[in-house]
Amino acid sequence: MKIGTDGAKSTRAAKDFQARVRKLALIGSGKLGEGLLAGMLGSQLIPVGRVEVTVAHQPRADYLAEKYGIKAHLSNARAVVGADLVLISLKPQQVKGVLQEIKRELRKDAVIISAAASVTTGLIERELGHPAHVVRAMPNTPCLIRQGMTALAAGKHATPEDVALAQEIFGSMGRTVVVDEKHMDAITGLSASGPAYVYTIIESLAEGGVKLGLPRELSTELSAQTLLGASALVLHTGEHPAKLKDMVTTPAGCTIDGLLELEEGGLRVTLIKAVVRAAERAKQLVESQNS
Ligand SMILES: NC(=O)c1ccc[n+]([C@@H]2O[C@H](COP(=O)([O-])OP(=O)(O)OC[C@H]3O[C@@H](n4cnc5c(N)ncnc54)[C@H](OP(=O)(O)O)[C@@H]3O)[C@@H](O)[C@H]2O)c1
Repeated sequence: MKIGTDGAKSTRAAKDFQARVRKLALIGSGKLGEGLLAGMLGSQLIPVGRVEVTVAHQPRADYLAEKYGIKAHLSNARAVVGADLVLISLKPQQVKGVLQEIKRELRKDAVIISAAASVTTGLIERELGHPAHVVRAMPNTPCLIRQGMTALAAGKHATPEDVALAQEIFGSMGRTVVVDEKHMDAITGLSASGPAYVYTIIESLAEGGVKLGLPRELSTELSAQTLLGASALVLHTGEHPAKLKDMVTTPAGCTIDGLLELEEGGLRVTLIKAVVRAAERAKQLVESQNS
């Protein structure tokens, strides 16, 4: 997949960002972390020379170093030395151990942005043992093509400037919203897991087209663009989705028959339950560690 290579961040915003961030340590660079890396480098938010990345396996480090021309290795403690911004993109269960590894080397005034699901800013502050500037982020994979949705929540000691820094990073990859941290598990179940639900819907609509004899490729294009266009209309007009749905639904037309099938199949309830279940799971991931 080609990611984060088009377009350029306004020079002024990048200059402001670079005046604040001399060194960025990206701790964990898997599916999400690499997307964030590509996004930041692709939008010229930060030059490659100021970024240091860590992962768990040497071949992965070699791949990242080769592809992006950055320093990539396995030592978290070394990566955070001198870093004024630390971006954590680890699995939730890995965060506690890594914080213990880096706490001695970490600058006390470093801003820590964590994209790990379920890990609270409180847990990070406690593990580090000082009033750290922590911002929690919950992005989603469309960040890879600058169509992401990221929710941000400030920790107790994060300043408005720290949050602005996070907005700068994730704003270069799509939309951002700043929320109270109590909403983060719900947001994980909705917009972070959401792309997976939407792919299932796209695939299913396309299967409907295939069932009716449309070529698969055409059917998938029709389905995906329909979701994209419908979503854009919601955001563009600010109208309630039900009102936009009514615009498509001619009395005694075809759409109402399709909608009846959706109601009978329980699509609404199923989607609501999917969001709730994923949010519950997000809460459980590191529940014992958070308390
Ligand atoms: N994927 C999403 O859509 C998404 C969306 C929102 C939030 N998130 C959150 O983002 C986090 C990362 O998710 P992901 O999907 O990117 O997971 P992932 O692909 O498994 O990436 C985890 C990365 O952490 C590295 N790692 C593991 N242990 C490490 C250690 N001790 N020190 C340094 N690096 C270490 C791994 O290195 P190796 O590659 O060498 O194994 C890998 O690069 C999760 O907390 C997830 O909840 C993900």
